[in-house]
Amino acid sequence: MTSFQPLHILAFGATGNIGKHIVNQLIRANPPFPKISIFTSANTVLNKPELLSRWKDAGVSVIVGDITNSADVKNAYQGVDTAISCLGRGALEHQFQLIKLADESDTVRWFFPSEYGTDPDHDPSSAHEKPHQVKRRVRKAFAEEVKNLKPTFLVVGPYIEMWVDGGPLKDAFGGIDVEKKEAALLGDGEQPIGFTAMEDVGKAVVAALQRPEVSYGKILKIASFTKSARQVLAEFEKQVGHKFDVKHIPLDDAKRLEKQYWDEGNPLAVVGTLRRIWATGGAVYEKLDNEDLGLHPDQLQSLEAAVRNRLNHVAF
Ligand SMILES: NC(=O)c1ccc[n+]([C@@H]2O[C@H](COP(=O)([O-])OP(=O)(O)OC[C@H]3O[C@@H](n4cnc5c(N)ncnc54)[C@H](OP(=O)(O)O)[C@@H]3O)[C@@H](O)[C@H]2O)c1
Repeated sequence: MTSFQPLHILAFGATGNIGKHIVNQLIRANPPFPKISIFTSANTVLNKPELLSRWKDAGVSVIVGDITNSADVKNAYQGVDTAISCLGRGALEHQFQLIKLADESDTVRWFFPSEYGTDPDHDPSSAHEKPHQVKRRVRKAFAEEVKNLKPTFLVVGPYIEMWVDGGPLKDAFGGIDVEKKEAALLGDGEQPIGFTAMEDVGKAVVAALQRPEVSYGKILKIASFTKSARQVLAEFEKQVGHKFDVKHIPLDDAKRLEKQYWDEGNPLAVVGTLRRIWATGGAVYEKLDNEDLGLHPDQLQSLEAAVRNRLNHVAF
């Protein structure tokens, strides 16, 4: 199967944060994939008409259905050999049914579960991290139950775009407010982190599809660049030409708040856990698969380019 070439790709969750980038890169792939379809909800058809119309114009087939309805999914799988799940955290549980139906189908042989983030099996502590539990069970299902299809799991660490803007939790778990020229660094900010730009996640999916000999049945680890929070901040300061106000968040304070959020059932607890994992070495890897996938540094975003892209959206 290592010579397997995808002829018909179906993406779930395609219109979401990372799905958009994956589909955009699938459309741009050279040589082109013969057929690209997406499976989306009726709600998204109503809410994102421009995006869907642009994709249809680019030759993408849009299938409308409910991922929890087996008949809809079985119909959508007809003739599909490769399924790519980009479902959001709230929908990860639905993947078990999607994988089962793919395994039972006559045609689907390759499945990319929705990962595109922190390795849920990075080290022994990963087994206890709450945000990893569904992704770990998906990996286990492939190892123990799935018979007729292989997975590719793509680990990419934090998206640089989302990591920079800590949003309302910046002062609790870290982030950089570019407009206000303020930064909150979790811990000492010296820990290297493997960051990936969202566009590069799409490129990595395409590279994996084009090189089944590297990716079929594998866990792949990708990063656009590996830098510390301090280095990211320094690049912003350099390009803006101004020092930022910097505060450090003690790791113990962040851990206390993280625990409190989990105890209260606050969904923002996930952010705290992931940021704590990244700040303590959970997104650096012994070996990256960039080169094996043909993703050379000049094809991926550099820190300089990522910061430039972010600053292009700033009105000082
Ligand atoms: N590395 C990072 O920094 C990072 C950051 C964010 C996310 N991630 C990971 O990336 C993956 C995708 O996350 P995302 O943020 O891109 O997803 P998202 O935008 O929240 O959702 C993606 C799509 O999934 C479908 N969906 C979402 N919630 C659903 C629900 N409750 N029921 C049914 N369908 C639902 C919707 O598609 P349709 O309506 O079209 O069906 C939606 O557009 C996840 O595995 C997540 O953990 C990583």
